[in-house]
Amino acid sequence: MKDTNHTIKTISSNDYRIQEGIARGTEIEIIVDGKSIKAYEGESVAASILATGKRSLRTTSKSYEPRGLYCAIGICFDCVMTIDNIPNIRACQTFVRNGMIIETQQGEGKWRVEP
Ligand code: FES
Repeated sequence: MKDTNHTIKTISSNDYRIQEGIARGTEIEIIVDGKSIKAYEGESVAASILATGKRSLRTTSKSYEPRGLYCAIGICFDCVMTIDNIPNIRACQTFVRNGMIIETQQGEGKWRVEP
C-alpha cells in the first residue's frame, strides 16, 4: 500500500443529526473502524457515519486519496466501504443493522474469509 500524508478523520462523539422534529427508528449500535457508534434503524450506513463528523469513507485504489459521499443515490460508487468483511458495498445504499461491522475501505479493499 502506498504511504500517503492524508489524514482520515476518526470517529468523534459529535452527533450532527437534526435533533428536533424527526421520527427515528430504534437506536442501534454499529462498529466503524473498531469504534462503536450510535445509529438508528432506517438510516443508511453513510448517514450514520456522516452524523459523527467523519467524512472519508474510503481511499482511492491508486493514490490512496480520501473519498466520501458524492451522489448519495447509488450511482458514483465513491462511498464504497467494507461491510461485514465484504468490500465495495455502497454506504449510501445500505441500511444499518445492529452489530454491523464497517471499515473505511483502503483502495480496492480485501475480502476477509473466516477459516
Ligand atoms: S455516494 Fe455515490 S454511490 Fe454512494
